[in-house]
Parts: sequence; C-alpha cells; structure tokens
Amino acid sequence: MKIGIDAIAMDTPDFYVDLVKLAQVRGDDPDKYTIGIGQDEQAVPPSSQDIVTMGANAATKLLTPAIRASLGMVLVGTESGVDASKSSALFIHDLLALPEWVRAVELKEACYGGTAALMMARDYIAAHPDKTVLVIAADIARYGLATAGEVTQGAGAVAMLIKAEPHIMTIEDDSVYRSESIDDFWRPVYQDTAIAQGKYSTEQYLAFFQAIWSRYQTQRHHTASDFAAMTFHLPYTKMGKKALKLVLPDTDEATGERLQRRFEASTRYCRRVGNIYTGSLYLGLLSLLDNDTSLKAGDRIGLFSYGSGAVAEFFSGILQPDFAAQLHAANHAKMLADRQELTVPEYEAVFSDKVPYDPEDYRSDPTYYHGQFVLTGVIGQERQYQQR
Ligand code: CAA
Repeated sequence: MKIGIDAIAMDTPDFYVDLVKLAQVRGDDPDKYTIGIGQDEQAVPPSSQDIVTMGANAATKLLTPAIRASLGMVLVGTESGVDASKSSALFIHDLLALPEWVRAVELKEACYGGTAALMMARDYIAAHPDKTVLVIAADIARYGLATAGEVTQGAGAVAMLIKAEPHIMTIEDDSVYRSESIDDFWRPVYQDTAIAQGKYSTEQYLAFFQAIWSRYQTQRHHTASDFAAMTFHLPYTKMGKKALKLVLPDTDEATGERLQRRFEASTRYCRRVGNIYTGSLYLGLLSLLDNDTSLKAGDRIGLFSYGSGAVAEFFSGILQPDFAAQLHAANHAKMLADRQELTVPEYEAVFSDKVPYDPEDYRSDPTYYHGQFVLTGVIGQERQYQQR
C-alpha cells in the first residue's frame, strides 16, 4: 500500500522585516545576511499569532467534509508549544471544530518534531488504511534582538494530510535515523528565546547528515543519481547548501547540476519566511514543488530532517501522477507578496510585545490581527482564541 502526503498547505504571518535593512541597523554587511547566511526577509509574528493560530490557518485550507469524517489523529510537531501540559493539537482541534473521535497530540524533539509526527502518521495509516492523519508542523523561531541568531528567526506553519494512496508524494519505507544527546541548541521552559551554540550546531547538523547519508547509501542501495531533488531542514538556506555540498563530490555532472538547481527552488520560501523549525523541511518541500515545474511523476525526492539535541532522519518520497494538480503555487506567491513590510523599529516593537511569562491578563494588539484565527489574549491564565 502507498502511504504519503495527500495535500499540503502553509501559513506565515502577514508581516516581515527586510534583512538588508536589518543588517544596516545592526551595523553588519548586508551580504553577510543575504549571501553568507542566505536569507532575504523574515516573517514577524505579532502577539495575536502563535503556533495554534498559524497551524489552524494552514490546516483549514485542507479540510473537506470527507477528510473530517476520515480523521484518526491530529498531530502537531512544535518546539514553541503554548502550554507545558495541554497539547496545542487540542486548541487547533477546537478552532477547526474537528470530530471528537480522534487522537490530538503534540510531539517534541526540536526541529525534528514535524518528521516524528509524519512518521507516526505513516505507521498509523499502515494499520488503519481508511483513516487520514492531519499533521501540522508550526513554530516561531526567536533568538532575541541583536543576537547572532536574530537573522535566522522566522515564523510559520505547514499542514499536511497523510493518507493511503496519496495524491502528492509517497513516503518510502527507507528511513535512516540517528539520535545522540548533545547541547547544540535548546530552550529552557522559562524563556521564549532559544539558546544556540551557533557554530557547534552547524557542525553537528553536517556531521549527522554525513553519517546518515553514508549509511543510507549502504543500507538502501541508492546513490545521489537516483534522486530528482534533495531537500533539507533549513534553519537558514546556507545550512542546507552546506549539506548538499557534501553530496556533490560523488555525483556525475548532470546529477550535481540537477540537485543544485532544484535545491535553489526548495529555498525560495525559506529565504522570505526564515526558520520555522519543525515546518522548515516541509516548507522547503513545498517551495520545491511550487517553484520547479520540471519535476514529474515518479521522481524521487530526498528529505533530511534535523532536530537539535539531536535526532536526524533521511528518507525519500516518490511524486505521484497528479501531484501538480494538488498545488497552489499562485496562492503562496500572493500570500508572500501581500505581506506588509515593517520597519526595523516596528519589528522590534512587535517582537517585544509578546505574551508574557507571568499571570497578568494580556490582550494582543488588534492592529496586527492576521488570518482566520487569532489569539485575542490570555485572560485569567487561559488562552482566548477567536475565529474572525
Ligand atoms: N559577505 C558574504 N558572506 C559573509 C560576509 C559578507 N560580508 N560576512 C560573513 N559572511 C559569511 C561567513 O563567511 C559565513 O559563511 P560560512 O558559514 O560559509 O563560513 C556566514 O556568512 C555566517 O557568518 P558567521 O559564521 O560569522 O555568522 P555568525 O557567527 O553571526 O553566526 C549562525 C551564524 C551560527 C548561523 C547564527 O546565526 C546562529 O547561531 N543561528 C542559530 C543557530 C542555527 O541556526 N544553527 C543551525 C544548525 S542547528 C539546526 O539546524 C536546528 C535549528 O533549526 C536551530
């Protein structure tokens, strides 16, 4: 039985900051941001947007009455959870008025959480072929103003329906994964900004990729030439470029040219949205599918997922006969083009107006409401969401 991605959609806030302008204010060379890091713009989430609203905004686009009736699980991969106990999947379940006879759970392992959800969904469908799983990968990447990580922030969500006989891409049973406890990047529960050992984290990402890619080739008997494209977790686009560079020395010229051209297509959304942690790999996949019209049914796509801490996995998917008909490239181009640019001081003000880590009542600023679902505030320590 084929199992995989039947539908996919994204959401990202309506606001962004131009990274050339941010570099100028920070006293950095803009080329460092746009070439050295490989990022052009960065999504800025207002206080009315969190992983619940972005996840719901992305998922609502996928839900037909037939899909709702077949739902078996709602899985949210995130490392920006809104509560240490209650799953964000339940808030989303409520906002989307999903059926009660489902499992609604949140999964966490840094940026790997989306892949954990996807693989759990795949295994569940193998046991329950008549069901659908809604997988959401949503995050807000926050390092802090004027930190080294600032240029690699971002916000957004990707929602996917995982089904038998999927319309877009199968998930092949060829995963190679690896886990090791390291301290390259983490976020203590008492703060909303991440701590990164920047250089060490990039080294670990590459070391995990190299070890897994080597094992994949030996165990699965595939080489780079079998791949139409390779996509990577993109904390920033240069990171994926460095990983791809490890593959290229062993490829023939045509394979190398193809993988590089398609890698570029996979980075277009990330360049404008930034890191969305758990959703980043899947935003890259969506960017590739939306922006490279030369892909065809039967093509094998490689996916490398990395979550600091760390767990990583490489697997592949095969594009299905009518995959192109399921895509909404024009909508995504419009979503990004219609965003409102914030000046650097405006971005700094929005960044600082966040839901506080204290029991005071808080109301989010309606000036920055975006999308169908918003967080209107936290009153009596309960989160208040609204459908507009
Ligand atoms: N023109 C062109 N390029 C320039 C330049 C200029 N004027 N100035 C600098 N550069 C280049 C540098 O040569 C460097 O390129 P290489 O990496 O190819 O050598 C690149 O720009 C970055 O420069 P620095 O290394 O000096 O940058 P930095 O010290 O400010 O930090 C960072 C970069 C470590 C990525 C930092 O942004 C960070 O800590 N980010 C958060 C952590 C992160 O994203 N880690 C990624 C792996 S972990 C992971 O993947 C999980 C996750 O999602 C977080």
